[in-house]
Amino acid sequence: MRDPVQYARYSDERSRPFYTLLSRVPDRPYREIVDLGCGTGVLTQDISERWPDAHTVGTDNSPQMLATSSKFAVPGRLEFIEQDVAEFNQPVDLLFSNATLQWLVDHDTLFPRLAKLVNPGGVFAHQMPHSFDLPSHRLMEEIALNGPWTPKLRNWRQIGVMPLKWYIDLLMDMGFDVEAWETEYFFVLQGDDPVLEWVKGTSLQPILSRLDDEQERAAFTQTYAEALRNAYPKSSNGSTIYPFKRIFFVASLPV
Ligand SMILES: C[S@@+](CC[C@H](N)C(=O)[O-])C[C@H]1O[C@@H](n2cnc3c(N)ncnc32)[C@H](O)[C@@H]1O
Repeated sequence: MRDPVQYARYSDERSRPFYTLLSRVPDRPYREIVDLGCGTGVLTQDISERWPDAHTVGTDNSPQMLATSSKFAVPGRLEFIEQDVAEFNQPVDLLFSNATLQWLVDHDTLFPRLAKLVNPGGVFAHQMPHSFDLPSHRLMEEIALNGPWTPKLRNWRQIGVMPLKWYIDLLMDMGFDVEAWETEYFFVLQGDDPVLEWVKGTSLQPILSRLDDEQERAAFTQTYAEALRNAYPKSSNGSTIYPFKRIFFVASLPV
């Protein structure tokens, strides 16, 4: 289960890479556009507005995230469907995905499968966090694997995103021209335990949803919060700096 309210707490920081990615997508006469893992759909509107003649579909497997998406729908132009990326299997001219595919395993089969769905002259534009070697994520794993809750987290695992070069090589071998880059954002967060609040909207959810006991969830969260406070101390001005890496590519097939 996803929590759209928690996710939206840092909506400005989270939407910035979406717009960076969108700005690099070449202008082509796309007819079918898909935004894989569209979340609430609020950002999918911007894709549809940039290509108003295309049919744009936002897909997501979370009914909670999609709950209010219908208000953004435009008949014949922009629609939203509940669908897992694993089931997505239709030819597409622009395959766009922001901050979603890190949730899926087996990138060595997933990415070639998705790339093959892109029509000639089409584009695969993608961004995801490369956060799994950050202190915040290493500490999460360490605590998950070394506590009274560990037996319940046996089928949880931190999902591995490959180095960016791996995606570039794969797509170039499939005939795409690739523009790719990595950006390290330095988020300046306010308030108490802001890194915890950040991951609560994303990576921590699969852990907390596996801990069915309220006390156990609280104990996990407290242990993790303490570790994060040491790893990301507050500056004397009260803010907390959270360095966070993201990888991007825009892969285009020849027109
Ligand atoms: C971090 S949010 C990004 C949402 C949106 N793309 C944005 O840029 O704000 C990740 C989204 O991926 C969705 N998601 C995760 N795993 C998925 C899967 N296997 N199939 C479809 N959607 C998935 C989640 O429900 C969530 O809405």
